[in-house]
Amino acid sequence: MSEPRKLFVKSFGCQMNVYDAQRMTDQLAREGYVETDTADDADLVILNTCHIREKAAEKVYSELGRLRKQQEELGRRTMVAVAGCVAQAEGAEIVKRAHGVDLVVGPQSYHRLPELIAEAQSRGTHKRARIVETEFPVEDKFDFLAPPTRAAIAKRGPTAFVTVQEGCDKFCTFCVVPYTRGAEVSRPVAKILDEVKRLADGGVREVTLIGQNVNAYHGDDGHGSPAGLAELVRRVAEVPGIARIRYTTSHPRDMDDDLIAAHREMPALMPYLHLPVQSGSNRILAAMNRKHDRELYFEVVEKVRTARPDIAFSSDFIVGFPGESDEDFADTMDLVERVGFAGAFSFKYSPRPGTPAAGSGSQLPEDVKNERLYALQALLERQKAAFDAACRGRRFDILLEKPGRLPGQLIGRSPYLQSVVVLAPTAAIGTLAEVDIREVSTRSLAGTIIGGEAFGSDRPPQGGLRLEAGMVPVEKVEA
Ligand code: 5AD
Ligand code: SF4
Repeated sequence: MSEPRKLFVKSFGCQMNVYDAQRMTDQLAREGYVETDTADDADLVILNTCHIREKAAEKVYSELGRLRKQQEELGRRTMVAVAGCVAQAEGAEIVKRAHGVDLVVGPQSYHRLPELIAEAQSRGTHKRARIVETEFPVEDKFDFLAPPTRAAIAKRGPTAFVTVQEGCDKFCTFCVVPYTRGAEVSRPVAKILDEVKRLADGGVREVTLIGQNVNAYHGDDGHGSPAGLAELVRRVAEVPGIARIRYTTSHPRDMDDDLIAAHREMPALMPYLHLPVQSGSNRILAAMNRKHDRELYFEVVEKVRTARPDIAFSSDFIVGFPGESDEDFADTMDLVERVGFAGAFSFKYSPRPGTPAAGSGSQLPEDVKNERLYALQALLERQKAAFDAACRGRRFDILLEKPGRLPGQLIGRSPYLQSVVVLAPTAAIGTLAEVDIREVSTRSLAGTIIGGEAFGSDRPPQGGLRLEAGMVPVEKVEA
């Protein structure tokens, strides 16, 4: 038998790209490709790219340059595909700018990879770099994609992403997503449930339902009506084996009462909500075409907190949007102070080709953006540190995910997505453990298992779960 062909996929950007990379890998596994974790010995390299900010988009060109150099040194020519959002946005330019690219495929066409690869192969090297597939096809890619094998699911661990909605119709003036991912489309409930069942059969315990505008989800419920995200979450919670559900990314305007009620009713829905606000200034929110003001954001936060008092929020922020004054920025800082976030991502505004804000005459200088980003991040980091510190002494269910750095350690996630280090046997991976949080450091928490699925609630594992030296950078465990 011939050697299996080797595939290396490198993903940039958001969680949907992580998911898409897995689906491409599953699709190509059916064609006999096996995954490798380096480009060195790969027969096919796929760069799954992100276009959200200029820095992210430029990465593809430096990566292609590096690949080309590496191939020259090794004296071999590997097939190279560029997928994802840069492929969609800059298909023709990639072909022009980067030699050694065999094919370019957008996020809605990657189910066609096998035939595109075959076509590239049949053309031979001299005519390579000619295949650019960036149409938004009429067919639904999900109907053509191969499901993951049990082995692939097991290898990816007890948490999984599932795309339930894709694209965006909101057209924020800074954002490329409506152009790269296309119009908003929701997958039918039944298809999502099939996928979740398959994942659960393979050992997955936690699913994160993903979509660029996930709480605008309105997939076919099987009876000819649209189901909202709350209904989908309730159905997913019924799948045997699924213990935890998350969803991301949400728009404040689409946090409807049913979804808020789901947070009240469902312990499986994790009390950590990523709710991007982008700015705290009503003037800037309007210029961004966010379709809501800061008052609506406060209102939503309040309602969700009332429904689920232990909820924590994270958010996305953009500083230095065109025309942002000191006063506007002060409003953002004020919003952060008032809400209090357990985590956040913040960015300098990056003008993206083809988006309305990129053409604005009131772009801000880099040093102003830098200053504001620095101040905002300092505040957000203080809030995160305070939230983490307040977790000390609390008892959380931790989903044990993978081995830790030191022998005997496992790393799991708290309901708030914090990494938690515990001492536990490898066999406990994929189970929920009840953990007393004892230590807090900047990157992780550490704790002691007092019970859980693999331990029996009243029988903590013997042998002591004292944390080892070196594991805990901040404070010592109190005896
Ligand atoms: N510049 C800077 N940040 C951006 N984001 C989206 N577009 C831009 C841009 N042009 C940020 C937003 C979004 C997150 C995924 O990326 O905060 O929520
Ligand atoms: Fe980047 Fe947006 Fe595309 Fe995700 S959807 S890869 S964040 S541009």
